[in-house]
Amino acid sequence: MRFEDRTAVVTGGGSGIGRAIAEGLAAEGARVAIVDIDAGRAETAARELSAVAIQADVSRPEDAVRLAAEAARQLGKIDILIHSAGVGAERSFLDTTPDEWRRIIDIDLSGTFYTCQAVAKVMAGQRYGRIVTLASTAGIRGGTGRTAYGAAKGGVITLTKVMAVELAPLGITANTLAPGAIETELVKKMHSAETRVVYRRGIPLDRYGVPEEVAAAALFLASDEARYVTGAVLAVDGGFLAAGVMHAKPG
Ligand SMILES: NC(=O)c1ccc[n+]([C@@H]2O[C@H](COP(=O)([O-])OP(=O)(O)OC[C@H]3O[C@@H](n4cnc5c(N)ncnc54)[C@H](O)[C@@H]3O)[C@@H](O)[C@H]2O)c1
Repeated sequence: MRFEDRTAVVTGGGSGIGRAIAEGLAAEGARVAIVDIDAGRAETAARELSAVAIQADVSRPEDAVRLAAEAARQLGKIDILIHSAGVGAERSFLDTTPDEWRRIIDIDLSGTFYTCQAVAKVMAGQRYGRIVTLASTAGIRGGTGRTAYGAAKGGVITLTKVMAVELAPLGITANTLAPGAIETELVKKMHSAETRVVYRRGIPLDRYGVPEEVAAAALFLASDEARYVTGAVLAVDGGFLAAGVMHAKPG
C-alpha cells in the first residue's frame, strides 16, 4: 500500500491510461479525484473506485482553478497530480488547419499548463507534491501526421522540466511519461490500419502496450520511492525510441 494517506487528482481519469492509473492508485490506498470533460465517464470511474468525480475541461483556465479548489476541498489536500487528459489527431503538416492546431495545443499543451499550475499552487502550500504529466514518444521523435500533437507533447516535456526546476524548493517533483503506442480509445481514433502495421515494425518488443503498463511507471513516479527523481522523461514504449535500423526480428 504505497499510497495510504495519500490523495491524488487524475485528469482524463475516465478512460484509457488515466483510468488505469486511477485504479492503481486506489488499489494501493490513495483517495482519488477523477477529473474528466465527460461527466458520465468520470462518475462511472468514481463509483467503481470509491473516488470523487469532477467534471472539467482542462483547456479552460477557469475550470483548472475550479478543479484544483474542488479536489482540495473534497480530499483535504492534493499530494499527487496525474495529468492524463488529452486528445490526439493524425493529420499531415501541409493539411493541418489553424483550427485543428489550436484545438490540440489548447487541450494537450495549454491544458497541462493550466492544470499543473492550479494544482501546484495547492501543493506549494503543503510543501509536498508529485506531478506526473503525459507526454508521448511523438514529443521526442518526428513522424508523419503528428504536427500539432507532436508539437504539443514536445512542449509538455519542456514545461515539465521547467516545473521540476522551479518547484523543487517547494518539495514538489515533476516528471513526464512518454508512452509509445498504447491500446486505448485515443489510439483507436488516431492510428489507421496502415499506421498500426508501420508502427509495429519499429517496436523491438513487437506489440502495442496496454494502459496498465503505463500505470506501473506512473505509480513509481508518484510514490515516495521516486523522491530523488525529478525532471525525468520516462519512455514506456516497447523500445521504440531506442530503435534504429532493425533486421527481421528473431522468432
Ligand atoms: N494511447 C497512447 O498510445 C498514448 C501514447 C502517448 C501519449 N498518450 C497520452 O496519454 C494521455 C491519455 O491518453 P489515452 O490514450 O488514455 O486517451 P483516452 O482517449 O482513452 O482518454 C483520455 C481522457 O481524457 C479526457 N479528456 C479529453 N479532453 C479533455 C479535456 N479537455 N478536459 C478534461 N478531460 C479531457 C477524455 O474524455 C478521456 O476520458 C493523453 O495525454 C495522450 O496524449 C497516449
